[in-house]
Amino acid sequence: MYYNRDIDYYEQFREMNKIESLNNLIIKAMNAERHDRVKYQTMMETTNDPMVKKQIKFAYDDEIKHYTMFQQMYYMITGRKMDIPLPSNIEKYNTLMDAVQSSIEGESEAVDLYREIYAHMTNKRMRDEIFEIITDEQEHFGRFIYLYSMLK
Ligand SMILES: [Fe+2]
Ligand SMILES: [Fe+2]
Repeated sequence: MYYNRDIDYYEQFREMNKIESLNNLIIKAMNAERHDRVKYQTMMETTNDPMVKKQIKFAYDDEIKHYTMFQQMYYMITGRKMDIPLPSNIEKYNTLMDAVQSSIEGESEAVDLYREIYAHMTNKRMRDEIFEIITDEQEHFGRFIYLYSMLK
C-alpha cells in the first residue's frame, strides 16, 4: 500500500514536470510568433514590390493568428493569461535577401519547436490546432524559398 502511494507520487511528479515543460514551450512559441511578426513587418517596409510584399504578408497575417492560438492554449492549461509584447528591437539585416534567407531558417526552426509541442500535447483539440500551425509554418517555409528564387 505504502509502496503504491510512492509510485503515484512519482507519477504525479512526472506529470507535473511534463505540464511545466509544455508551458515553457508554449511561452517560447509565443515569443517566436511575436518576433516573426515584427520581422515580417520590417521586411514588408523595405520593399515596394507588391509580389514580394504579398508573399511576406501571408506569413505576417498567420503569425498573429498563431500567437492568439498559443495564448488560448496557455490559458486553457494554466488558467493564467499570458501576454507578450511585440519586441521593440530585433536583429537587423543588410538586405532583404539576407532577411529572406534567415526566415527560411526561422520557419524551419518553428516547425521543429511545434513538433515538440505536438508530442507533449495530450488534449485532442489543442493537438489539432498545433497540427494546423505546423502546416502553416511549412507553407511559410515554401513561400520564403519561392521568394528567395524570385529575388536571386
Ligand atoms: Fe507562426
Ligand atoms: Fe511562420
